[in-house]
Amino acid sequence: MSSTLLRTVPVLRGALRASAAPKMAGAMASTSFVRGKATLPDLPYDYSALEPYISGKIMELHHSKHHQTYVNGLNSALEAIAEAESKGDFSKAATVAPLLNFHGGGHLNHSLFWENLAPASREGGGEPDGALKKAIDSDFGSFDNFRKQMNTALAGIQGSGWAWLVKDKTAGTLGIVTRANQDPVSGPYVPLLGIDAWEHAYYLQYENRKAEYFEAIWNVLNWKTAAQRFEKT
Ligand SMILES: [Fe+2]
Repeated sequence: MSSTLLRTVPVLRGALRASAAPKMAGAMASTSFVRGKATLPDLPYDYSALEPYISGKIMELHHSKHHQTYVNGLNSALEAIAEAESKGDFSKAATVAPLLNFHGGGHLNHSLFWENLAPASREGGGEPDGALKKAIDSDFGSFDNFRKQMNTALAGIQGSGWAWLVKDKTAGTLGIVTRANQDPVSGPYVPLLGIDAWEHAYYLQYENRKAEYFEAIWNVLNWKTAAQRFEKT
């Protein structure tokens, strides 16, 4: 996971300071760990800025409630793993791993997602240009083909999940992958642009008309961000 997004890498604060050591019993070794907490990132636009395609109410709840829950869950999972680790209880640590995956993935996915969006009056919508456009044309035939394949992938997600435009670091090619729940994109794939297919992303506005949401969101996709990610990898 991106250290800039998560800021959760444990920092070894160091062994006991020499001046404090005499207060400790015997030769008991001790280190203290200070963890950076994951935090909810600010949105680079107002909650209502993506209307009429995504309502301000959805954006407010999605960001301030749903994403915040993933942030809280990630911090709790990290604390539980650290506590288990400090006790040498690796069995306990392993049981927390699914929560770390779920909440850590949720935090990472949403942090990427907010940056994938922009008001239609600014960078939102349209098509990519430059190197990313060339790559999409090469690997999908055309932007329209890519869009159709992405929407087909989104429609095929059963339950909750995401569809991503990814770059395969090994092959250097673009592709579309889906992930269930909050599973993060990993392995050789670098996520360039993701679309949240969870009901919480659209239901208040589109109810059961999921396909309408999958069409509308193209008006607020931020291709500038996707192009920057593409060029960095
Ligand atoms: Fe979401």
